[in-house]
Amino acid sequence: MKDLDCIVIGGGAAGLMCAATAGQRGKSVAVLDHANKVGKKILMSGGGRCNFTNYFVEPANYLSQNPHFCKSALSRYTQYDFIELVSRYNLEYHEKTLGQLFCDHKAKDILNILLAECELGGVEITTQCSIEKVEQLTGDTDYRFKLHTTMGAYRCKSLVVASGGLSIPTMGATGFGYDLAKQFGLRITAREASLVPFTFKGELLTLAQSLAGVALPVVISCNNQSFKEAMLFTHKGISGPAVLQISNYWYSGNNIEINFLPDIDLAEQIAQWQSEKSKSELTTLLSRLMPKRFVVAWLAAEHAKACGANSIANKNIADLSRSDIEIIAKLFHAWQCMPAGTEGYKTAEVTRGGVNTDDVSSKTFEAKKVPGLYFIGEVLDVTGWLGGFNFQWAWASGYCAAQHV
Ligand code: FDA
Repeated sequence: MKDLDCIVIGGGAAGLMCAATAGQRGKSVAVLDHANKVGKKILMSGGGRCNFTNYFVEPANYLSQNPHFCKSALSRYTQYDFIELVSRYNLEYHEKTLGQLFCDHKAKDILNILLAECELGGVEITTQCSIEKVEQLTGDTDYRFKLHTTMGAYRCKSLVVASGGLSIPTMGATGFGYDLAKQFGLRITAREASLVPFTFKGELLTLAQSLAGVALPVVISCNNQSFKEAMLFTHKGISGPAVLQISNYWYSGNNIEINFLPDIDLAEQIAQWQSEKSKSELTTLLSRLMPKRFVVAWLAAEHAKACGANSIANKNIADLSRSDIEIIAKLFHAWQCMPAGTEGYKTAEVTRGGVNTDDVSSKTFEAKKVPGLYFIGEVLDVTGWLGGFNFQWAWASGYCAAQHV
């Protein structure tokens, strides 16, 4: 039997940050992970360069049933605190776009920093360790929990659940944290794959497949939220940063709206071409603004036929009537569709939903009704936007919980 101040289940971003911080506060800490190595999602993140935080972190970048829950931790451990940590290790990094900070070299640099911090805190890390049972201890003991694992039994005063969400099961994701929360009477909100590409079916799927590989900047909107980023057609539907971002706000059965020309007023542009006495066809001129392959396919698609846009495509620009222009402007500025679904957990970056934040303290991350039991990181019902926000939540929640374990 091993006795410790704190056991952290899950050696991902949140778990390693929490373990290192608690260890450096003088606590005896062990991280138990069932995977063959820790930090796998860090290694695969940001295309191998880990988008480890963002210059512009705000509570508004997070979704949760309780939007106030994330505020305290995000203000107590900020993006600048994490930047200060990585700067101590001389990490070379750059801002890619929209405040997103990436490693210049590889994501492993971030994992190495966390492992070095764990070593400074004397943290013991055990991989390939499956938790078979968690028992709450009562009576005359300092220890609140007993863990039965494939690596033997442990007792601890504080138990931190940092087992993450359900995305990418092949990387070790499990529903362990939700099951443990239920075991101790905490509530779980509905969970869904998020930051995930959309799938189409029928004619829309055929259209997307014919355009697979075409990327363009768009504004995408759903449920009163909009993002201006790049979008990509795929063999299954649509993807790219804009699509992943809006997937956080999308529920099955919702329409999404896409503006394919976010920086141009197409009606004004057509009026301009008409005033210049252009003799070109609409398709030719639109191909100056968007990839020609997209313009041609879009104007020939079923949705274009339904509104009569296909018959306008080959008209000379001078012959376009006011109603023609309205039809074309709507087709490119406010195209609506209903995705059939998402690609699911096998490609999703995160899980939306999780352990109900009403059952957890936003200051300590301790379960309100179970002294000594903590939940941090993605297992909680806190989901960030794409762009380094989810790691910042892992760092912040891990750091703050570590002050109390
Ligand atoms: P995380 O998933 O990191 O760790 C959970 C740990 O628990 C894992 O080590 C797992 O093996 C372990 N575990 C699970 N079940 C267990 C069990 N039953 N017993 C023991 N251990 C168990 N975010 C971001 O901000 N910037 C980015 O660039 C990216 N990029 C990115 C790419 C891809 C492909 C994905 C899938 C995700 C991202 N993310 C991201 C999201 C980010 O990776 C994610 O939000 C954090 O890793 C969450 O950190 P956690 O520590 O909560 O869970």
